[in-house]
Amino acid sequence: MPKDSGAEKNATIRAFVAIKLPEELVARLKEVRDSLASSQKDVSWVRPGSIHLTLKFLGDIETEKVDTVAGALSMAASGVKAFTVKAAGVGGFPNLKSPRVVWVGIRESVELIGLQRNIDERLFESGFEKDDRPFHPHLTLARVKTPVAGRELGKRAEESKIDINVDFRADYFVLFRSVLSPKGAEYTELKRFDLKG
Ligand code: 2AM
Repeated sequence: MPKDSGAEKNATIRAFVAIKLPEELVARLKEVRDSLASSQKDVSWVRPGSIHLTLKFLGDIETEKVDTVAGALSMAASGVKAFTVKAAGVGGFPNLKSPRVVWVGIRESVELIGLQRNIDERLFESGFEKDDRPFHPHLTLARVKTPVAGRELGKRAEESKIDINVDFRADYFVLFRSVLSPKGAEYTELKRFDLKG
């Protein structure tokens, strides 16, 4: 057997499942970022065009399992109707007083939670681990590198009382590939899954 074939067999990609955001919301997130950004170097902002609503993070999966994942996701989408997603205010993980991550919240809805559970369940049946943390739907705006930068950004976010108030219709979700680089993660769409009911 050629020496390389083993390595190729175990090739992996970093993957996750998410809902893409409409242009209107991306534009609003850009405004939020501009209103909160300062000269603070220790904050890493996510490019507004790359912000998404993650439903499931898969991590590194073997490329040969991508079809299995796609099959599980098709089953998760089957019978699910398009639904409305509502973006709300700014918050932080673990909190906004001293955040490591600053995000825009997504209102929990029966449809959103149901879809996330379907995806988790179908992928579990295909051999993937279930999420052990509760699902907190959010759009990550920034990751903070130091506690000082976190407290400063959190304070600004609290004082600005930003309300996003944008609704949109989620009529599909996407299996994304993520490639990490020093410039930040690059996301590419591998496959779309329509929510047609
Ligand atoms: P986050 O926005 O809350 O950081 C791609 O990395 C997407 O998967 C991000 O939206 C990220 O969520 C999410 N994700 C969830 N768990 C992750 C993990 N353990 N490592 C990296 N990304 C994760």
